[in-house]
Amino acid sequence: MKIVVTGGAGFIGSHFIKYLLKEYPDYKVLNIDKLTYAGNLENLKEVEKNPNYKFLKVDICNRDMEDVVDGYDVIINFAAESHVDRSIQEPEAFLKTDIMGTFNLLEISRKKGIHRYIQISTDEVYGSADEGYPFSEESPLNPSSPYSASKASADLLVLSYYKTYKTPGIIIRSTNNYGPNQYPEKFIPLFITNAIEDKPLPLYGDGKNIRDWLFVRDNCRAIDIILHKGKTGIIYNVAAEQERENIFIARKILEYLGKPESLIKFVPDRPGHDRRYSISCERIKELGWEPEVPFEEGLRITIEWYKNNEMWWKKIKSGEFLEYYRRQYKL
Ligand code: NAD
Ligand code: DAU
Repeated sequence: MKIVVTGGAGFIGSHFIKYLLKEYPDYKVLNIDKLTYAGNLENLKEVEKNPNYKFLKVDICNRDMEDVVDGYDVIINFAAESHVDRSIQEPEAFLKTDIMGTFNLLEISRKKGIHRYIQISTDEVYGSADEGYPFSEESPLNPSSPYSASKASADLLVLSYYKTYKTPGIIIRSTNNYGPNQYPEKFIPLFITNAIEDKPLPLYGDGKNIRDWLFVRDNCRAIDIILHKGKTGIIYNVAAEQERENIFIARKILEYLGKPESLIKFVPDRPGHDRRYSISCERIKELGWEPEVPFEEGLRITIEWYKNNEMWWKKIKSGEFLEYYRRQYKL
């Protein structure tokens, strides 16, 4: 199989490329990535010399890039602006990449007769599951942030292309991923790296918001199964079934690193902050997938990785990230 992965220099995309090349040594993978602040080719060091892997620095919004995908069977679109807080500060890039970029890739898929187009979406499109029940793939869209609204818009485009042009799209909506190589603006890597550096952990609101934490390798296995066995024209939820309050995770990180709880600093809440994400995923379970990594085990692996790879995140935290952080907290 010949697969185009977009956004493959980011967190999940880079894990997925390494997973694919290991599990399917005869597959060819083309990674197209704009290399925004979140794209990092260091994530792909171990495969950069693999003859079945190729990288091109391309923006998915580029209307002239259709020749790039010539000869490829599948497009898997990970490329996105992905951080909710940035979407609140500066939404425009989210609309451009997440909506117009998806539109461009769908147009290319339609014109080039791509066999399968996979859209990496998110559980955030359902909005907050305050009522206690999990959302299914049939639940209505109810996004809260410019990020989740842009991802929901992209999903609607994928479904409309399936209905109108028979473009063979599939949508995957997973819960919060965590693991090695996640950019340290996201909750878990931010809290781990701040704790290592004895810096405050900025906990939003009352710290009782709930997310369902999926170890990134479990998500790669889910995407793999959907790539090979999924039905086109439909949505697959991917849940970890390991819901945890943010404050619980903050305490676990501090406990693991032997740091004091006094590092937790309650800060003003994120505007429009969804209280809880919760989805059911019976549909992918019917394909034979189950989450495998227990949260406490995945968290331990993740903390160890950040402890052993300080160069990776210190470089990030000393540059552009620091600027963003200063703006976020008006430092
Ligand atoms: P990330 O921010 O770590 O990586 C995004 C990648 O996309 C980067 O390499 C970046 O350079 C690239 N990119 C951005 N704009 C681009 C453009 N215009 N053209 C080409 N490349 C571009 O994101 P992530 O956390 O790895 O998320 C990947 C996908 O998974 C996103 O679509 C996100 O919405 C979705 N998702 C993420 C999570 C999560 O918890 N991280 C959960 C569910 C779904
Ligand atoms: O649910 C899937 C989504 O998960 C993905 O679609 C997004 O791309 C991804 O960024 C993530 O969104 P969240 O907003 O849930 O993740 P984040 O890591 O930003 O925050 C997780 C929780 O932690 C959330 O309740 C907000 C809180 N938080 C976050 C940060 C960055 C804090 O309390 N303090 C912080 O500094």
